[in-house]
Amino acid sequence: MNTETNHPLFDTSLSILQEINIPRFTARGIKLFIKRDDLIHKEVSGNKWRKLKYNLLQVQQGNYLGVFTFGGAYSNHLLATASAANRANIKSIGFVRGDELTENSNNTLKRCTELGMQLIFISREEYALRNDKQYIDELKSEHTNFYFVPEGGGNYLGIVGCQEIWKEINQTIDEVFVAQGTTATSCGVLLGKPANCKLHVIPVLKGFDAYAEMLNKLKWFLFQEDLAKELLEDVVIHHEYHFGGYGKYTHDLLTFIQEVYQNSKIPLDPIYTAKAFYGMFKELEIKTYDNKHILFIHTGGIQVCKEIEIKNNISLFTN
Ligand SMILES: Cc1ncc(COP(=O)(O)O)c(C=O)c1O
Repeated sequence: MNTETNHPLFDTSLSILQEINIPRFTARGIKLFIKRDDLIHKEVSGNKWRKLKYNLLQVQQGNYLGVFTFGGAYSNHLLATASAANRANIKSIGFVRGDELTENSNNTLKRCTELGMQLIFISREEYALRNDKQYIDELKSEHTNFYFVPEGGGNYLGIVGCQEIWKEINQTIDEVFVAQGTTATSCGVLLGKPANCKLHVIPVLKGFDAYAEMLNKLKWFLFQEDLAKELLEDVVIHHEYHFGGYGKYTHDLLTFIQEVYQNSKIPLDPIYTAKAFYGMFKELEIKTYDNKHILFIHTGGIQVCKEIEIKNNISLFTN
């Protein structure tokens, strides 16, 4: 496969490395950088593009007809796949969790349909089979010559894409912070990171065994358990910033998003990036981070904010 850094679909040079000045941290010699992957594209932003890039190259180079994947009702990944496939002129099918839903159930699903994605609504029981080889093989034979991307895009090529972010970081980094869901993004970041840098992950799921999940993924990726364990020695897991679990958030978190936007013009979403950013701020209060270079990877996901603003009758991004 052709693995040059740029891909004609989306230009990652839009993702700048932005230094922000938070006076109480700057005073302690902390340099804080944000890798603005949210700026790559408004629908295919952040880790979505990193994970889809080599998968879509595979679709194009393998002459597939299109791509099929899975997602929940508000899935960033589903929307990103629909948008990228539309741009690449390939067909897309999205299997959606919940057979009570329709194309009009929310803006994410409406937009996927507008972008040409065929949505197939399946029961929760059927959705539970989304990683089952036999089930996927059946779907492959029903949808001949369609390439399969798993939910969240966290397959081998997705992890390879996430590793690449480091090619765009031209600063020495001591500590990097990233939000964690399935762990594919954080595993990619871990595999690509410089030797003396610690990776801090903030799982957004409650009761999530981040270490076991990462170990499993890394073992599968590397075929070497010892190496996987050695790499994990550089990982710090912060379990205390999930705000109640996946999809949950508090009034305080929404206020935090508003404050960060007012002070630094960085938009955060309450499902992933705000929890990680909040966790990073709490950590940076500790003295051991003095004089360190800190990197926050903005993994995108901002499009869900519109639905959350409507639901809570607030505006997250005002000056
Ligand atoms: C905005 C955002 N940040 C972070 C993540 C976590 O990524 P991963 O599931 O690869 O751990 C996701 C999920 O894909 C996401 O949508």
